[in-house]
Formats: sequence, structure tokens, C-alpha cells
Amino acid sequence: MKKLEEYVRCIPDFPEEGVMFRDVTSVLQDADGLHLAIDTMQELVKDLDFDIVVGPESRGFIFGTPIAYNNHKPFVLIRKKGKLPCETVSMEYELEYGTAVIEIHKDAILPGQKILIVDDLIATGGTTEAMIRLVESLGGEVVGVVVLMELAGLKGREKLKGYRLESAICYE
Ligand code: PRP
Ligand code: ADE
Repeated sequence: MKKLEEYVRCIPDFPEEGVMFRDVTSVLQDADGLHLAIDTMQELVKDLDFDIVVGPESRGFIFGTPIAYNNHKPFVLIRKKGKLPCETVSMEYELEYGTAVIEIHKDAILPGQKILIVDDLIATGGTTEAMIRLVESLGGEVVGVVVLMELAGLKGREKLKGYRLESAICYE
């Protein structure tokens, strides 16, 4: 049986020079890799009590939905600007390469609801921090964040002090 990290293909200098791209497609296109990824992330959150899973476009959708399904919880989408059809709240943030704006539907979270954030990867932590701010602006309580991969060298964890962050693979 292969280890989870062995399914991740690494591409230097993508999408720009100096970035080591950790490619999730190589995990997903292998049936065993996909199972191992979801099962490992599920195990990391098994003790958490949450009402809703939230995940960002686009790779966050891939991992967020099965975690929501496994736990019989709803899944709420965070999308890039201009994609959600109803009333939204927005947040601008910085990425490892560039900036972006993400949005969530205003009616997707009620005050006091417990939120688990799921994504494929945490790099600088900018996306996760922006998601936490969006959730909290609606009165939600972030009880945990789970990702498949953490790029520890980019110190995303430091942006999330006080929040529980779980990662299935941690690259130093
Ligand atoms: C990637 C990744 C995370 C984020 C991590 O998404 O899926 O959401 O970057 O980077 P950060 O910790 O520095 O914020 P991206 O915005 O590239 O969108 P994609 O999933 O649509 O490719
Ligand atoms: N998103 C942001 N940084 C990334 C990286 N180094 N590899 C894959 N996805 C990313």
C-alpha cells in the first residue's frame, strides 16, 4: 500500500518561478489515492462537532463535499467573486501568487453555527484566513480547518493562531 504523500506529484516553477506546486490531480486520478486522501482527512476531524462544512472554489469543493457527505452535514460553497447568484459578503486576500476575492452567500450560515473548513492545501494561509473572516462575519464559529496538504515553510499556520488546523501531509 502506497503512502498518501507518494500520490502527490510535485512540479517546480509552476505557475511561476520559485513555486513548488503540489499537484492534487495525481492523488485524485488514482482510486486508492482518492480513498486514502478522504479517509485520512475524515479521521483527522472525527472528534469534531460541527454543523456545516465550508470549502472554497475550486479544489476545496473536491474534498469538502465528501467530508460533508460522510458526516451527513451540509456543504457551503465559497466562490471566487461574481459566481454566487444571491446576496453575498466578500473578502479580498493575498495568495502565494497574486490576490483574489472570495464570496459566500449571506444566508448560508446562521449565527452560532459550528463550521468546519476544508481545503486541499494551505500555503500562505491567506485563503483560510479570508474564509474564517467570511464565516465569522455571518456569526459562524470556526471549530476546525482540515487540509490535505500543509506547506509549513509558508507559515500559514501562524495566521491561524487560536484555530485548530489539521493536515494529512505536512511539507517542511
Ligand atoms: C489554492 C488552494 C488553496 C489556496 C492556498 O487555491 O486550493 O485554496 O490556493 O493558498 P494560500 O494558503 O496561500 O491562500 P487557488 O486560489 O489557487 O484556486 P483553485 O483551487 O481554483 O486552483
Ligand atoms: N496553492 C497555493 N500554493 C500552492 C502550491 N505550492 N501547490 C499547489 N497549490 C497551491
